[in-house]
Amino acid sequence: MNQPADSRPQVIEVRADRAAGAYVSATLEGPGAGSEVRTRLTALAPDRTGIDVEFHVPERDPARLAVIGGRYRAIYERLWAEDEAMMVERERALAARRANRAARPETILLGSPEAVRATLPRLVEVGGSRFRIIEIDGELVVHAATCPHWLGPLDNAKVVDGCVRCPWHDYAFDVRTGESTDGRGLTLETPPRLVVVEDQLALVSG
Ligand code: FES
Repeated sequence: MNQPADSRPQVIEVRADRAAGAYVSATLEGPGAGSEVRTRLTALAPDRTGIDVEFHVPERDPARLAVIGGRYRAIYERLWAEDEAMMVERERALAARRANRAARPETILLGSPEAVRATLPRLVEVGGSRFRIIEIDGELVVHAATCPHWLGPLDNAKVVDGCVRCPWHDYAFDVRTGESTDGRGLTLETPPRLVVVEDQLALVSG
């Protein structure tokens, strides 16, 4: 029979030693109280980091320790793989932005208003940055398709009440103004302007 999930709240303390590249997450109260996860990061090369993680749990039974250790390893391998994917994507986007910023085009013709509306939502790359054109209450809105936090993808993020939420860490932004709507102190990259040029919609940057 399955045990019911322990729904007690946890109190977790994180102690970091930046100089040593180490931090400890200690569970003080709730499920797992008394356990610690000790992580140490070592720079191996400009693009490589060694990661040592130790799991300390208040358990003496070797059989149970083996099971708990296996679970911890599986969870941490997945979390570190996800973090690595985020960082690789972030570096890719930053490199593309740097490479293209100087050559940022002034005007990109999109087509007639009807043709543009028929293809929404539409992603456009301008000067190495990705933007999304959407329609809100009949108004065409252009917003950055990359989150300013860790460059998470907003390509397919839902827009609710004019607000887009990043799928990575849930930061929220007003797509019209780019301002944070949950007090994060970050703003979306300023999009190119959407204008009409000889009956065609166009994005104008700069
Ligand atoms: S990348 Fe962290 S909230 Fe978007």
